Amino acid sequence: MRFKAMTAVAALMLAVPGVVSAGPDDDKLVINGEIEMTTKAPVPEHMEDTNMDQIMSGWHFRSDETQALEMDDFDNPGMIFVDAGMEQWNTVEGSEGNSCASCHEDPSSMKGVRAVYPKWDADAEEVQTLAMQINDCRENNMGAEPYGYTSGQMANMEALISLQSRGMPVDVAIDGPARETWEQGKELYYTRTGQLELSCANCHEDSYGMMIRADHLSQGQINGFPTYRLKNARLNTVHGRFKGCVRDTRAETYAPGSPEFVALELYVASRGNGLSVEGPSVRN
Ligand code: HEC
Ligand code: HEC
Repeated sequence: MRFKAMTAVAALMLAVPGVVSAGPDDDKLVINGEIEMTTKAPVPEHMEDTNMDQIMSGWHFRSDETQALEMDDFDNPGMIFVDAGMEQWNTVEGSEGNSCASCHEDPSSMKGVRAVYPKWDADAEEVQTLAMQINDCRENNMGAEPYGYTSGQMANMEALISLQSRGMPVDVAIDGPARETWEQGKELYYTRTGQLELSCANCHEDSYGMMIRADHLSQGQINGFPTYRLKNARLNTVHGRFKGCVRDTRAETYAPGSPEFVALELYVASRGNGLSVEGPSVRN
C-alpha cells in the first residue's frame, strides 16, 4: 500500500532537474520590521512517531517574491480584507440592533482567540471553529443571517480576528472533551482517498519539500489562514483549501463546515502548535 501511494505522488511530481527536492529555506519572517514570527518549531509531542524533525510554516516554501509580500502590511494584499472586516465589525445588522462592537468593543478584545481555535464549547458540547463561533454570535446575539461558511465576509472577519493574535503561538487543546474529535480528524488525515489513493500525510508529511505540478509542497499548515492567494486574488478559508486538496486526489469531498472538516481542522491546527499565528498570510 505504501509503495502504491508513493508511486502516485511520484507520478504527480514534475521532473525539474535539480529542484525536484528543494528544501525549505532559512529566511526569517519579520513583519513590518518588528514582529518576529516563529515559522519553525519543534515537533509537537503527539507527532513524535512521525519522521518529521520540525514543523514549518508554509511561508518557507514560497518564492522570495511571494514571501516579501507578507513582510510588510502595505504590500500584503490580505490587509484590504482586514479593513473590510473592520467595517463589518462596526455594522449593525439583524433584529437585535447590534454590531459586533456593541458587545466586544474594539477588535483588540479578540487578542489570543485565533490561537486556540478550534476549541471545545461546553454549552454546545462540540468542538467549534472560529467560523462557527462567529456565526453563533450573528444568529444568537444579533438575530442576523449567518455568513456563508467560506464566504468573503467570513474570511474578512476571520482575518480581522486572526490579526489580533499575530505572532502568538498556535495552542489548540487536544485533550479532555476535544480528544474524540481530534482522533477523528487524525484518522481522516491518514486515510487515502480518491482515484489517486492519497492521504493528506502522503503529500504533506511524507513528501513536503518536493515539487508537485511545479508547486513547492509544504507541510500543509493552517497557522497562516485566512490566506491571500495570488492564484485567485482573494482570501481563502481553511475549509476552502481542504476542499481543493481533497479534489486534487480526485475524491468526493466533505462540505465546508461539516463535522468531518471541523475534526480535520482541529487535527491539522494541532500539527502547528508552536508556530506563530500568521493570518492573513500570502501564498501563491
Ligand atoms: C449581544 C452581544 C454579542 C454580540 C452582538 C456579538 N457577540 Fe460575540 N460573544 C458574545 C458573548 C457573550 C461571547 C462569549 C460566550 C460565548 O462563547 O458564546 C461571545 C464570544 C465570541 C467569540 C469567542 C471568543 C472566545 O474567547 O472564544 C468570538 C470570536 C465572537 N464572539 C465574535 C463575534 C463577532 C465577529 C460578532 C459580530 C459578527 C459578535 N461576536 C457579536 C456576545 C456577543
Ligand atoms: C496530491 C498531494 C496533496 C494532497 C493529497 C493534499 N494536498 Fe494539501 N496541498 C498540496 C499542494 C501542492 C499545495 C500547495 C503548496 C503548499 O502549500 O504545500 C497544498 C496546500 C495545502 C495547504 C495550504 C498551506 C499554506 O501554507 O497555505 C493546506 C492547509 C493543505 N494543503 C492541507 C491539506 C489537507 C488537510 C489534506 C488532506 C485532506 C491535503 N492538503 C491533501 C498538495 C496536496
